[in-house]
Amino acid sequence: MLFANLLRRRSSSSLPLLLGTVVVLWFCSSHHVTATGSKVEYLPGVQPEGPLPFELETGYIGVGESEDIQLFYYFVKSESNPSIDPIVLWISGGPGCSSFVAMTEELGPLLFDLPKNNWSLPTLSLNPFSWTKVASFIFLELPVRTGFSYVKSSKQYRVNDVETSYQAAEFIRKWLEDHFQYQSNSFYVGGDSYSGITVPMVVQAISDGIDARFKPLINLKGYLIGNGVTIQADNNFDDTFQTARGFSLLSIEQYKSAVACKGKDCLDELGRLTTGEHYYWPNVVGEENDAKRFRGYNVHAFDRHLIFKAALIASQWMNHDNVLEALHVRKGCGEKWAKCRIPLHYERTVHDTRPYHANLSTKGYRSLIYSGNADLYVTSLSTERWTKSLNYSIIEDWRPWLINNRIAGYTRTFSNNMTYAKILGSDHIAPTITPADCFIMFKRWISHEQL
Ligand SMILES: *[C@@H]1O[C@H](CO)[C@@H](O)[C@H](O)[C@H]1NC(C)=O
Ligand SMILES: *[C@@H]1O[C@H](CO)[C@@H](O)[C@H](O)[C@H]1NC(C)=O
Ligand SMILES: *[C@@H]1O[C@H](CO)[C@@H](O)[C@H](O)[C@H]1NC(C)=O
Ligand SMILES: *[C@@H]1O[C@H](CO)[C@@H](O)[C@H](O)[C@H]1NC(C)=O
Repeated sequence: MLFANLLRRRSSSSLPLLLGTVVVLWFCSSHHVTATGSKVEYLPGVQPEGPLPFELETGYIGVGESEDIQLFYYFVKSESNPSIDPIVLWISGGPGCSSFVAMTEELGPLLFDLPKNNWSLPTLSLNPFSWTKVASFIFLELPVRTGFSYVKSSKQYRVNDVETSYQAAEFIRKWLEDHFQYQSNSFYVGGDSYSGITVPMVVQAISDGIDARFKPLINLKGYLIGNGVTIQADNNFDDTFQTARGFSLLSIEQYKSAVACKGKDCLDELGRLTTGEHYYWPNVVGEENDAKRFRGYNVHAFDRHLIFKAALIASQWMNHDNVLEALHVRKGCGEKWAKCRIPLHYERTVHDTRPYHANLSTKGYRSLIYSGNADLYVTSLSTERWTKSLNYSIIEDWRPWLINNRIAGYTRTFSNNMTYAKILGSDHIAPTITPADCFIMFKRWISHEQL
């Protein structure tokens, strides 16, 4: 669903959007001046009931001229040693998908449960594989109008990718100014899907600020990207079809005709492969396997039907008055929360982020490029091709990476401090499908260990 927008670019006729959202505009009349965030000690529906067992803060930071752009964030403190653990600024894809989704369906501390009915408030449980166990995370709603982020003055606001990256850099400087105790922690930027474009641009903007000696100086170490869009090539789905053939989703005849097809018909074929009945999740083939893979933890939270319904469940919960109040969302500012605000008036000027990777590597920033191998949108094939095309020499060539002697995936490390990690049996949003393996991958990489 993060891809609805991306696919729209490729087709003159508009594809049916997976996410129908009713956008209610209620813009902010008063201009608030609260600088820092607020603690959230309790959230409705979180099981077990009581105070949250992790530290959460939410807030807005104004950026741009007269702080017209109000960016909303959720800060989750590391559950290990927040005073020294790294901080990751996480930006979800779309563009226009709320980072709250990463926090509750992916790598954050919470997971929605499968609702018992359609009328009571959805409940959430703790994610045993939350990446916040080893690092602090700032989940940022970017670009503006994503989630609870809003513009103070104009309804017709249009923003583009370059401006957005500088807004994110300003955001993080202001956040660190307010949270000065974290200024010396290692700092990373992460994201997935469309954020393959956004993240390198944000890192470049932060790096430009460091070069210009903007204060506070950020202890920028690197970035990580999952199944990220890097090169937006029009109407080229060859990698998708090849991946689908590799997973035996297509007969050899179907594969040949798919590769030969050009234009709109290909989109139909792509749609058939990637939605509904035909959607292929290699490891998600029933409760028995789920239980084995998740080792008995929160199996209910990974029900595949839940993943399809997740947008509905999340917006039902998020737009409840008690939740809005608990999250300190400003009344009368911004729009009704939507998992992905698509289409967003967002101008894309950058369609290939390889020059950004090349620049950032020159400065010695480290990166983790990970890829769930069964993703038919942003395939491992295309990711392996572009990482190789940077022409950096290989420090450690292709080898399996293991968890308890089981092959979790394959990895390769380049001389530009870039690590590529493939995750077997995973998909576009890898930590949702293979949470245990992705957690271990992240923990090793962020701790400078070998995968
Ligand atoms: C909830 O609503 C959906 C569609 O709106 C329906 O298909 C489903 O059966 C309902 N579930 C319950 C438990 O009422
Ligand atoms: C890469 O760095 C060079 C030199 O600092 C700069 O001129 C160029 O704009 C940068 N490229 C990108 C994509 O940021
Ligand atoms: C990048 O790699 C070089 C050489 O291997 C190393 O000296 C440097 O510390 C690395 N940078 C980071 C940020 O890890
Ligand atoms: C990498 O090498 C190939 C083959 O020599 C060349 O065509 C390409 O332009 C190089 N790419 C970069 C980013 O230097």
